[in-house]
Amino acid sequence: MDKFIIHGGKKLNGSVRISGAKNAALALMPATLLASGKYEFTNTPDLRDVTSMAKLLQTTGADVVRNAHSLSINTFRVNKFEAPYEHVKKMRASIYVLGPLIARYGYAKVSLPGGCAWGPRPVNLHIEGIRKLGAAVKLESGYIVAKAKRLKAAKIAFDVSSVGATGNVLMAAVLARGTTVVENAAKEPETEALARFLVKMGAKVEGIGTNHLEIEGVDALHPVNEEMIPDRIEAGTFLVAGALAGGKIKVTHCNPLQLTAVLTKLEESGASVKIDGDTIELRAPRNIKPVNVTTAAYPGFPTDMQAQWIALMSLCTGSAVVTDAIYFDRFKHVPEMIRLGADITLNENAAVVQGVKKLKGAKVMSTDLRASASLILAGLVAEGTTEVLRVYHLDRGYEHIEKKLQSIGADIKRVSGQEY
Ligand code: EPZ
Repeated sequence: MDKFIIHGGKKLNGSVRISGAKNAALALMPATLLASGKYEFTNTPDLRDVTSMAKLLQTTGADVVRNAHSLSINTFRVNKFEAPYEHVKKMRASIYVLGPLIARYGYAKVSLPGGCAWGPRPVNLHIEGIRKLGAAVKLESGYIVAKAKRLKAAKIAFDVSSVGATGNVLMAAVLARGTTVVENAAKEPETEALARFLVKMGAKVEGIGTNHLEIEGVDALHPVNEEMIPDRIEAGTFLVAGALAGGKIKVTHCNPLQLTAVLTKLEESGASVKIDGDTIELRAPRNIKPVNVTTAAYPGFPTDMQAQWIALMSLCTGSAVVTDAIYFDRFKHVPEMIRLGADITLNENAAVVQGVKKLKGAKVMSTDLRASASLILAGLVAEGTTEVLRVYHLDRGYEHIEKKLQSIGADIKRVSGQEY
């Protein structure tokens, strides 16, 4: 139960290298179940969630060898087609084994994810999707149990654009008989990376990067190697840190095209942004202008940047409304931000942030990954000392965030093994 101790008020200057994308790794790793053999991944992020996915794949019989930034998976000996509750309760993305297992082995037993820190996150679209592809699915003692001889192509139109459900249907349909059409598919860069990986394995997918996918099933796929795309949310988090703490920072090894919505809002807040290849340079605004944000599916403003945006707006010269249209009650960071002196009023799925002159250090509690990131950002500018407790939430999705922040001038340190 580590915590971070932050002494606020230090401007940030320097360059941060962005890691591989957590949400791409969590989609591509289970896709290896679709064909037996050895896969090599590079630019993989050194994160707790990647460890969790590796452990889950090992329970199916796969061999997984990890180094800090590379991963080798051998699915030759896969013989167990189950995702136990013990794994799924730790990480919802474990549900990504459902599609590949039912498609490849005709059987899958996957625990339902259960509750999430910030409210209902149903998986009905995942279940409906594989049902439409011909699987017999029943819910039994908290598990999704799916069976199918061979999946059959179908026309699937999602009510909501879902990253996870699109990924599971994609991974199921690539081995189905016939051509599946998916409408209102997610087109997040991580979903696109998954589709491109499947095509490299021999799949036939048209419309990649759009809301309309056509997947012509094939009889078999083969193992390949892949480099993970950069993490756009990690890049966005550091850019907002720079805008909030003041100074000039660079994020390198990222894909600026995947951050257009965030960069546009940062410029509206008064920051200056320069793009040069895979590098973004940000110079902090003199005064942070109030900028309203409403989250949306890609390429809209990502919900995974909502909490960080609230931290930035907490010091703006006016008031801003931050609305989450994806997760209506993803605001667990707000009461903690108020403990740091922020002036925020919640109104259903909108936070009205009245800018204050300064924040003041305090003890705050992490609740989930992005909420914790916003508390770190606020701690960087809060007067005095901020203690961010339970930072294991952060280690799930940010690689050594304190070291990266220290490298650009932040006064932050990790204190291990605290009980509180
Ligand atoms: C992915 O989650 C990401 N996780 C999340 O990032 C991210 O917040 C989310 O997409 C939205 O961008 C991973 O990629 C591992 P969804 P996912 O299915 O797939 C509703 C982070 O911080 N929905 O796109 O679970 C759902 O309730 C994490 O890195 C259904 O109604 O999200 C939500 O309102 C947190 N039924 C909307 O769709 C379903 O069956 C989008 O959810 C599935 C989803």
